[in-house]
Amino acid sequence: MQQRHVFRNGLYVLLLIIFTFYFLGRGTKEGVDIAILGAFPEETAWIKSQTENLHSVEKMGIKFLLGKLEGKHIAIVETSIGKVNAAMTTTLLLEHFLPQYVIFTGVAGGLNPDLLPGDIVIGERTVQHDLGDFTPQGIIPKGMRNPLTSIRNPVYFAADSLLLTAAQAAAAKVDFEPIETSAGKRYPAIIYGTITTGDAFIAFIDKKQELRDLHHAEAVEMEGAAVAQICYQHGYPLLVIRCLSDNSDENAEVDFEKFYEVAARNANRLVLEIVKGL
Ligand code: ADE
Repeated sequence: MQQRHVFRNGLYVLLLIIFTFYFLGRGTKEGVDIAILGAFPEETAWIKSQTENLHSVEKMGIKFLLGKLEGKHIAIVETSIGKVNAAMTTTLLLEHFLPQYVIFTGVAGGLNPDLLPGDIVIGERTVQHDLGDFTPQGIIPKGMRNPLTSIRNPVYFAADSLLLTAAQAAAAKVDFEPIETSAGKRYPAIIYGTITTGDAFIAFIDKKQELRDLHHAEAVEMEGAAVAQICYQHGYPLLVIRCLSDNSDENAEVDFEKFYEVAARNANRLVLEIVKGL
């Protein structure tokens, strides 16, 4: 009788140990200091080349590269193009890698007529230009409800103030590559302002003007405000940095091909300097 009790209690203890290890193992998270996102490979290629001990971890088919940059643990991931892809990858990133800071780096189309390909926009805020009520007067921007709180999101997502301050300090120190233009070599101008996001590549001067008027945005791209919405809803600090590859006009596709690689590298150079300062 006594022996059967000992055996049964032993079995319970063993099962408890197995379950504890199983659930602890399932819940293991690898936290990083900084997450760096880009939409397509060239948007993070240069920063990858500067990162040590790169190794990859897959989560639901998405490859996250982990490594060390300037002594900090980082995760680099490609979101793929568009708001839905960006939201999906950002959610996986936050869930599995709990970053202290999130930085999106990439290229964009210019909306401010004073800017040229190669210039850099540091996003003080991001906004989705295709989210809201579509009326005869055009689109009336509207934030959607945060599913975690049922509270309506703001139309504009503000950048994290610490990251913005770090970017300001970093911008003065970066050794940018010049862009070759028909008028000669040009170094990037850096401005701070609104970046607008939507699910379309803008290559039409009338639409460019409309987006400029709607949000007084400096640049347009296809992921930033989607990443911002996910970060906002889950309370993660974000900064979006974009270097212009084109002017969002009828020449946009030709300019994009000409300038996207150097534009992506210069956005990455600024990110490296920010990471140094954090
Ligand atoms: N990314 C780079 N150029 C762009 C453009 N013209 N429109 C939207 N996203 C872009």
